[in-house]
Amino acid sequence: MTKSRFTLPAGMLFLVAATMMVALANSKTQSKQEKRPFGKTQDGQPADLYILTNNAGFEVAITNYGGTVVSLKTPDRNGKMADVILGYDSVSGYENGKAYFGGTIGRYGNRIAHGKFILNGATYTLAKNDGENHLHGGLIGFNKRVWNAKDVSSSAGQALELSYMSKDGEEGYPGNLSAKVIFTVLADSNALKIEYSATTDKETVVNLTNHAYFNLAGQGNGNILGHQLTLHAGKFTPVDATLIPTGEVRSVRNTPLDFLKPAAIGARIAQDNEQLTFGKGYDHNWVLDRTSAEVLSVAAEAYDPQSGRVLNVSTTEPGIQFYSGNFLDGTIQGKDGKDYPHRSAFCLETQHFPDSPNHPNFPSTVLKPGQHFRSTTVYKFSTR
Ligand code: BGC
Repeated sequence: MTKSRFTLPAGMLFLVAATMMVALANSKTQSKQEKRPFGKTQDGQPADLYILTNNAGFEVAITNYGGTVVSLKTPDRNGKMADVILGYDSVSGYENGKAYFGGTIGRYGNRIAHGKFILNGATYTLAKNDGENHLHGGLIGFNKRVWNAKDVSSSAGQALELSYMSKDGEEGYPGNLSAKVIFTVLADSNALKIEYSATTDKETVVNLTNHAYFNLAGQGNGNILGHQLTLHAGKFTPVDATLIPTGEVRSVRNTPLDFLKPAAIGARIAQDNEQLTFGKGYDHNWVLDRTSAEVLSVAAEAYDPQSGRVLNVSTTEPGIQFYSGNFLDGTIQGKDGKDYPHRSAFCLETQHFPDSPNHPNFPSTVLKPGQHFRSTTVYKFSTR
């Protein structure tokens, strides 16, 4: 048989194929990590904004001020992108702000009653920055500290590692705590993975979380009362009037806190219920129906019927604080000049239970020297 006139030599074929592959890749967004200045703190420390993107154009911006997720852009069911996280345009907003927008919360997420706990016979006294109680790590929590940043991207996705050394006695907590948070924008899905780790040189308590406020219709775009929420949790920890857990672990059955099946956030929020009165809406810790602390379990799903955006939260943590943005009151001006009215966002803070150091029946938050604290949460976005 004679060779066809159109046969190309093998080397040439390879070149053609490679050129075609590059052209195809370039027609999509390239996964990348960019760094931009984000302003200076009042005492002159520069902060940066790190923008992590995957090939699909899903984009998350994080600042090393407070380990804060500043924006998260994801498509609706028609492919239209929107930023679904509340926040500020520069570091000064976060420095002056009191809402914990997108911040890494530590050393202890949520409340500790009367700012006191006992560990190994010693009493530790923390700031009372929420009435009589201690909230989200105190006066200058992890969300108001400047973290060190490092690009740790891999084939798993664009990744940013932030680290912070919290000194023995900082905000009243014992032990030098070396904390690390790795934010990864996954290469193969529109998801943000957050991995927390910490070690200490003295027995202490740790409860790290992220305080992102989500509005799946887009930040500053109405309230979230029509969003449908599912919480994979058959129990919650009831609170007193100051939002401190009573110690009881109660079933959600026949209460407006039952989100085992999807329900609109606003459907029962105004019901006459003591827990909703105390929380001024939803502001409670749900006990997740998870099977293991070692692997990720699905914790929550939020769906905005209008945009079609879906948020899935999975975590290794035993609890989740669902907060319906009850303290947002329209006085905060956020990114792009947007106002944030009452309940214009919700938080799903994966965590150990509030006030655990004072409740021996709750999963322990104690970290000892030689132990390694680890916790992972994934926020995954899709559409329906
Ligand atoms: C708390 C709320 C608090 C909010 C801070 C939530 O985690 O549970 O009570 O107001 O954070 O803005």
